[in-house]
Amino acid sequence: MPNRKRPQMKFKSSAPGKLIISGEHAVVYGYPALSAAVSLRASAEAIPREDKKQTFKSNIADVAVLKLAAEKTFSAFRQPEQGFSLRVRSDIPVGSGLGSSASVSAACVSSLLKFLGKKKNKEALNKIVYETEKEVHANPSGIDNTTVVYGGFIKFKKINDKFKIRQLRKNRFLPEFILVQSGQPKETTKEMVLMVRANIDKNKQILAKIGKVAKEFISDFEEEKFNPELLRENQRLLERLGVVGKRAQKIIHLVEGVGGVAKVCGAGGVKAGSGILLIYCKDLNEIKLLLKKEGLDFFSVSLGKEGVR
Ligand code: MEV
Repeated sequence: MPNRKRPQMKFKSSAPGKLIISGEHAVVYGYPALSAAVSLRASAEAIPREDKKQTFKSNIADVAVLKLAAEKTFSAFRQPEQGFSLRVRSDIPVGSGLGSSASVSAACVSSLLKFLGKKKNKEALNKIVYETEKEVHANPSGIDNTTVVYGGFIKFKKINDKFKIRQLRKNRFLPEFILVQSGQPKETTKEMVLMVRANIDKNKQILAKIGKVAKEFISDFEEEKFNPELLRENQRLLERLGVVGKRAQKIIHLVEGVGGVAKVCGAGGVKAGSGILLIYCKDLNEIKLLLKKEGLDFFSVSLGKEGVR
């Protein structure tokens, strides 16, 4: 008899990255924000093992998020009787405002839930991913995990530790955007959020203004309008909040010089880069030429993609 190997059982899932179109930082203080799932994804697979070992492997160096996702999944449900290998592949740049940790965590939790034989339940999944985010980022609003779990365009608000989530229909008049890397921040999201909090007396008014701009942007989005001036205003307020470094400001200035707008779309960073910038311009070709000339890495992105699957 030929020795036929049994096919390996794999429990697979994937989750998108995210970006915040309007309202970052203020969303931590209960103001509304608009986010979108992006076309970059993280994939995870849990492969049952014959022994009881639990192993973790990822193409993005740190496996701490994978281990945390496993710990939180099993403490929410039960410990598995069988061992497993959990593997991750992610296209999402780490620490750049695109929700890499939430996405990796969501893909892992979802594939481990499949491994445990649990039915798909986005609310339960979102709760577990939020638990991992709390350990990674201190006091996160919950917008990153919610966006990568549900996908699409998310209107998000946190009231008394409860999430108010609305998935919005795609605005047909939302233009094409491109993303440019202003450099990986030296600071973590947690450090940036704590920095804003450390000066809360001075920052209170700025956060309220960001909340107002985000509210207006969301209401335009719902009416299928797009006003790039609001993105510019949002960016200026983030600069006043002190979360945008010199390198990013220089790129933003260049983009504005040819009639475009650009903004940070995560926590930002000041010591080095500020992560990924979202860019809009009527004439994107002109922006692309400019970025090429400056030797800056940019890429196209599509927004409103599917959540965890
Ligand atoms: C992180 O993607 C966005 C912040 O608003 C933090 C948070 O919402 O938890 C800076």
